[in-house]
Amino acid sequence: MKDIIIDTDPGVDDALAIMLAVKSGNFRIHAITTVAGNSTIDDTTRNARFILKLLGREDIPVYSGAKNPLKRKLDRAVVHGKDGLGGLKPLNGPGLSGDAVERISSIIERNSGKITIVALGPLTNIARMIEDYPQTIPKMKSVVMMGGAIRVPGNKSRVAEFNMYVDPEAADIVFRSPVMKTMLPLDACDVQLSLTDFEKIRDAELRSPILEMVVPYMRNLSKNEGTSKAMMYDPLTVYSLMNPSACRKRRINAVVETRGEFTRGMTVAEQRRWKEENPNVTVVEKVSARRFKADFVRILSKAQP
Ligand code: RIB
Ligand code: CA
Repeated sequence: MKDIIIDTDPGVDDALAIMLAVKSGNFRIHAITTVAGNSTIDDTTRNARFILKLLGREDIPVYSGAKNPLKRKLDRAVVHGKDGLGGLKPLNGPGLSGDAVERISSIIERNSGKITIVALGPLTNIARMIEDYPQTIPKMKSVVMMGGAIRVPGNKSRVAEFNMYVDPEAADIVFRSPVMKTMLPLDACDVQLSLTDFEKIRDAELRSPILEMVVPYMRNLSKNEGTSKAMMYDPLTVYSLMNPSACRKRRINAVVETRGEFTRGMTVAEQRRWKEENPNVTVVEKVSARRFKADFVRILSKAQP
């Protein structure tokens, strides 16, 4: 069992990633921390609690974090719908605790060397933890993040992936930190699911909420990102941690653009062969589509305990 904290901005693909992580049985999830990104912190926090309720796992604590990026205005996504979960209308729950950063630090301090942070949204909370609790950094096992684009175009701008674009200053702090980092960039997100794939999910309780989420999500993606299938950004990130043998990875040196007029949030990798030194991040270049799809449907189809 891997010990993790999921930092997330649900978000339809975040919701599917949380379902995969919880139902896989591969993870001890110490907490879910929320961040503004796909939607507001109120939405992402309410949505995280709603997904855990659907999974019967309200025992997993949810701590809310950053309402805005470190230095910029929040630039929300449109593909996840008005409330952030496609066509699902989650009921309002308890408010915001606002203590995600402190909670991340204290969980890591209590579990020194064991905790991997799975970062599925903008890196605002992680950057704040690095800045406010520098003593905790050596006790973090690693950060596994969905974000960036190395050899492919961006999805939020010509060159930048959404999570990096929303808070490039936070991403810069994380990439400069000494913590062990793995990134799953858009390069590995060519594995998409169709409605037929989702319809194979047999869990009677999850099947209809999943379809209520993904049908509008796919419709919005075809309007905004030129693809008719479901982008599985965050589930692929969780899967790369669950099943590293299904992935191709390499070590690179990457930095994050924070000043460019046209290149804000771009992850700029050193790709000159004769200059390949000082790697600072492991990049997941490819995930086996066959294995991911088979495992995703099998795991989400497992009956709830
Ligand atoms: O660019 C895709 C990423 O941005 C995913 O994590 C998605 O949920 C959004 O947060
Ligand atoms: Ca996300």
